[in-house]
Amino acid sequence: TLPWDLAGKRVVVTSGGTREEIDPVRFLGNRSSGKQGHAIAAVAAARGAQVTLVTSSDLPVPAAVEAIRIDSALEMRDATLSAAADADVVIKAAAVADFRPTDVSSSKLKKDSGSEPAQIRLERNPDILAGLVAAHASGEIPAGCVLVGFAAETGDSTGSVLEHGRAKLARKGCDLLVVNEVGRGTTFGQDVNGGWILDAAGGEVSVDRASKDLLASRILDAVVSWAAAPSAR
Ligand code: C5P
Repeated sequence: TLPWDLAGKRVVVTSGGTREEIDPVRFLGNRSSGKQGHAIAAVAAARGAQVTLVTSSDLPVPAAVEAIRIDSALEMRDATLSAAADADVVIKAAAVADFRPTDVSSSKLKKDSGSEPAQIRLERNPDILAGLVAAHASGEIPAGCVLVGFAAETGDSTGSVLEHGRAKLARKGCDLLVVNEVGRGTTFGQDVNGGWILDAAGGEVSVDRASKDLLASRILDAVVSWAAAPSAR
């Protein structure tokens, strides 16, 4: 049986990729399925939380979860920031597109009309997590709210997956960061995930090739202990 340790807590979860419109029928997307975010939403609700899931995913909405459907990063930002205004926890499991097309065509681009773009110009999307951290610092989000980011990393010559994760946690300024290693039959679209849950006080929990439900439980365990020990901040 699950602990009932999130009773009365408001938890906001973002899940899935974003879809950045090109024209009425096309978008730029990514491989995020939404499985991990949906699993977190489901487990949080089963542990008593009042859950708002901001998502682009077509996966079924878990029981007792309120879903807000969005497509683009800008829509996700607006929905997430407003839901976060009275949240105890915000978990950013979504894979947010870093860029969006600068010009969105109001009619379908036709391949034989000469109207097809030679190239799609892109502009940068806002970093939603950075926006949450700033809103937290300025008091627009409750002081005790726990902000959780995700990072999909690969190791390279400049550092290991874990080192990149640590650096990202410091850079992003959130409380917890879930670090997934990509490209080993885990992560995108898969049912298993592995990695580390890092906290801003240097704590680290390793989770080895777990189901997304088990990783969801571990993440929520880390949230509960972080919220219980604010002195660690
Ligand atoms: O910098 P990177 O994209 O690796 O950071 C990942 C984390 O930041 C995730 O939690 C993701 O949801 C969040 N993010 C965001 N807005 C963006 C890009 C990433 O909130 N535009």
